Amino acid sequence: MQRSRREFLVLGGTGVAALGGLAALLGACASSRSGSSFPVAPGLAFRQPDVLTSVNGTLAVTLRAAPTMVPHGSGTRYALTYNGTTPGPTLRVRPGDRLVVTLENGLDAETNLHTHGLHVSPSGDADNIFATVAPGASRTYTYDIPSTHRSGLFWYHPHAHGTVAPQVAGGLAGAIIVEDAIDELPEMVASVERVIVLSDPPIGSGPGTMSVSPMTQMQGRQGPVVLVNGMSQPIVPARAGSRERWRLVNASAARYYRLALDGHALHVLATDGGRLVAPTEVSEILVAPGERVEFAVLPSKAGNYSLRALRYDRGRPGMGGGMGGAISTGELTLATVTVAGSASEAVLPVRLAADDSASAAAPSATRTVTLGMGMGGGGGMGGGMGFTIDGRSFDPARTDIELPLGHVEEWTLVNASTMDHPFHLHVWSFRVVGAPASVGWKDTVNVPAGGAVTIRIPFTEIPGRTVYHCHILDHEDLGMMGVIDVTS
Ligand code: C2O
Ligand code: CU
Ligand code: CU
Repeated sequence: MQRSRREFLVLGGTGVAALGGLAALLGACASSRSGSSFPVAPGLAFRQPDVLTSVNGTLAVTLRAAPTMVPHGSGTRYALTYNGTTPGPTLRVRPGDRLVVTLENGLDAETNLHTHGLHVSPSGDADNIFATVAPGASRTYTYDIPSTHRSGLFWYHPHAHGTVAPQVAGGLAGAIIVEDAIDELPEMVASVERVIVLSDPPIGSGPGTMSVSPMTQMQGRQGPVVLVNGMSQPIVPARAGSRERWRLVNASAARYYRLALDGHALHVLATDGGRLVAPTEVSEILVAPGERVEFAVLPSKAGNYSLRALRYDRGRPGMGGGMGGAISTGELTLATVTVAGSASEAVLPVRLAADDSASAAAPSATRTVTLGMGMGGGGGMGGGMGFTIDGRSFDPARTDIELPLGHVEEWTLVNASTMDHPFHLHVWSFRVVGAPASVGWKDTVNVPAGGAVTIRIPFTEIPGRTVYHCHILDHEDLGMMGVIDVTS
């Protein structure tokens, strides 16, 4: 108790914030509007968000976005939640289902909803990020998930340009699972499935914590603590000889996680929304903002093992490093896995899915897409840093890329800046050219500072107008986003 109380006060920062934190501590019960939020003192047992599952082909839910005081340490913190919790409920659907979400806006700013990675229409009342919902208003989104949809882990979050980083960092995010056949493979039936949403929210007692300085925005905001399903350093109890199947989403606005688990290999089963052909063993996985990864862990010996985020350096904020040192994330413990018993490692399936990578072969066109940060540009930060794609800042009225439905294109993503940028395309998944076997279909890919990545995108089945952008959400808010129109 003492420890978490002290942690809370330290994190409160300035004297005023600390006083606010104290007030929040004293009034914890009275001010909390959430009966089901997650306990967060370090060392509590791992918990998952509530799960809402489709019945007879339909899942209809209401998500209310609203400010909420949620538990933090032995007190509370100010957060933005869906239905009172952060992360929001996990939505579980199947290919061919209809997902209907009524979004109620209880915030004091515009918001909307995006289904990151889902291959659904970006138009009308589906995954249309150009439409926004005013404070106090609501909107019903209807997503028809194609019967051919790939299974995997996706997620939902707000996408109202200019407010995305504070809203997602504030806590507005939840997982979407499209179920699949690997659940029925004999080697997977008994696996322990865990949804893990990583976030690093600001810690404070009021809405002031949601605004950051222009310098922090330029770097991409990172919070003072990393939470696993809203909990600080939970304990994950596991049994030797079991199959742990972890489905993890990086819902941080800007933080990268270079994941490793002490004493264990990670057996990758899927990346973003794409099942691998076979489990592929790695010792660590870099998960950039927006990315997901699914992997198996096969405990065999009793003990306590840390799930770590290893140190990662994602570049420098200014041209030639002139605007400050490297943006580094030091090593952190995310959770502790406590293994009981002793048994030989469980066996994984030899084959997970058919190889459907050929649909990304033989591109009919190529393009270069350049991610840039320049001084003094019209990037929306008067005289500051301009965040651009192909030299232009986001304009919802302009279409940057237009192509006909049915084409496969090869894009070379060039990072002309001194910081990493995770590139994300809505609606259509892609393959990364030259990627190792541990990488399948992707919708978000990190483009390292000064580097380039080539992707192949089949623009199949679904036409429509939507966006591609950097998933460091501050960069997106500052204009690093373009508009694509796939015409039928
Ligand atoms: Cu995760 Cu354009 O979004
Ligand atoms: Cu998206
Ligand atoms: Cu960026």
